[in-house]
Amino acid sequence: MKTIIHENVTVGENGHLHFAGIDTVTLAEKYGTPAIFIDENRVRSRMREYKNALENNFGAGSMPLFASKALSFKALYRIAAEEGIGTDIVSPGELYTAVSAGFPMERAFFHGNNKTDADIRYAMESGLGYFVVDNMEELDTIDMLAGEMGIRQKILLRITPGIDPHTHQKISTGGVDSKFGSAIETGLAEKITKEALAKENIELCGFHCHIGSQIFEIDPFVLAADIMTRFIADMRDAFGFTAKILNLGGGIGVRYVESDPEISITKNVNEICAEVKACCAKYDIDVPTVYMEPGRSIVADAGMTLYTVGSVKEIEGFKNYVSIDGGMTDNPRYTLYQSAYTVLLANRASEETEAEYTVGGRCCESGDLIQENVKLPKPRRGDILAVLVTGAYNYSMASNYNRITRPPVVLLKDGKDTLAVRRERFEDLVACDI
Ligand code: LLP
Repeated sequence: MKTIIHENVTVGENGHLHFAGIDTVTLAEKYGTPAIFIDENRVRSRMREYKNALENNFGAGSMPLFASKALSFKALYRIAAEEGIGTDIVSPGELYTAVSAGFPMERAFFHGNNKTDADIRYAMESGLGYFVVDNMEELDTIDMLAGEMGIRQKILLRITPGIDPHTHQKISTGGVDSKFGSAIETGLAEKITKEALAKENIELCGFHCHIGSQIFEIDPFVLAADIMTRFIADMRDAFGFTAKILNLGGGIGVRYVESDPEISITKNVNEICAEVKACCAKYDIDVPTVYMEPGRSIVADAGMTLYTVGSVKEIEGFKNYVSIDGGMTDNPRYTLYQSAYTVLLANRASEETEAEYTVGGRCCESGDLIQENVKLPKPRRGDILAVLVTGAYNYSMASNYNRITRPPVVLLKDGKDTLAVRRERFEDLVACDI
């Protein structure tokens, strides 16, 4: 059967687009549009791929921590819990969602460059496993609050390895001038390690780095593995401290359009792990427990968004616009990063494409576009338009701009569909208004 970009997207004999084996036109009729669909088996198999690769290389205990900023709702934390993996959370809201889903909080890692006192207290009360400490003020505060609560808090330190991967500037984070972490280059990483080791109420367990997102090359990850293991060796030599945990962050890229490469998670993770092991031998350090924090590469290609076409505007000599019933409020990624997406008419997926169209959202904002100049059959009002690979950073970045309600999220598994997040209602929009 013909697949489009990924195996879970096919065209049925009726000319309709199928996703995870289900006719998308039927799904659009059942749930209305816009709506986001997540292929649960795909999510689970991605989580397993990471888990198996890390365990095969480093033994039980090494695992992926799903970066839930990519997609966060209760059912997803339940899936991660069932798959026996951890999670990376970055806000008290994500923490609350994980706790509400019954996620085992000892496998949760709290990130972010500015955790408030209230966030820290709330996380400790919730039995959070680890804070990934960004900076000195935060270290002091966690030590103080842990003391108040009578606990010894486990932490990792976020280290900036000074790597500049080839990705969009807004999602590159490993450089020395990043707002995240403490840089090795400036000496701050060593200084914060020393401070952490001296804190009474803190147990330093290891180090973390994250170099960026949507990275296709393996080299920056391999380099990060080298720099971080060398840092572990340096800290052992300087302070006699042996890190038990090395967390290498997320960032493996995902195929959004035909021209993107196909990435094998197992192959990539194995290569990164091989480098970690080789460097442990090279620098003569004990092999740590290794974590990775994939977000996008777990959920992106497990997602699809369906919209309904409204007006179609052909401006002679200029552009053709096709307007849909969603837009930057459910997927701001083109507006923010000019991200590439594959766009199709779901109810006419086997028809020849006729012209190029710019897909516009419904916000009062010219920049509210989903994609420019995509080839489509001439769209008509009422057609179903599918945007592929929307599982990551779409629903989680959705907003209520123009008081547009957020779409529902539906899980697809073994030919069955289950609502995971209901569509927002107008009452939800005014729920906080006094
Ligand atoms: N760990 C940390 C500390 C992170 O900051 C991130 C992503 C991840 C893990 C997961 O990275 P991933 O595997 O998903 O690439 N909104 C942007 C992406 C921002 C990524 C932020 N950090 C986008 O839509 O492309």
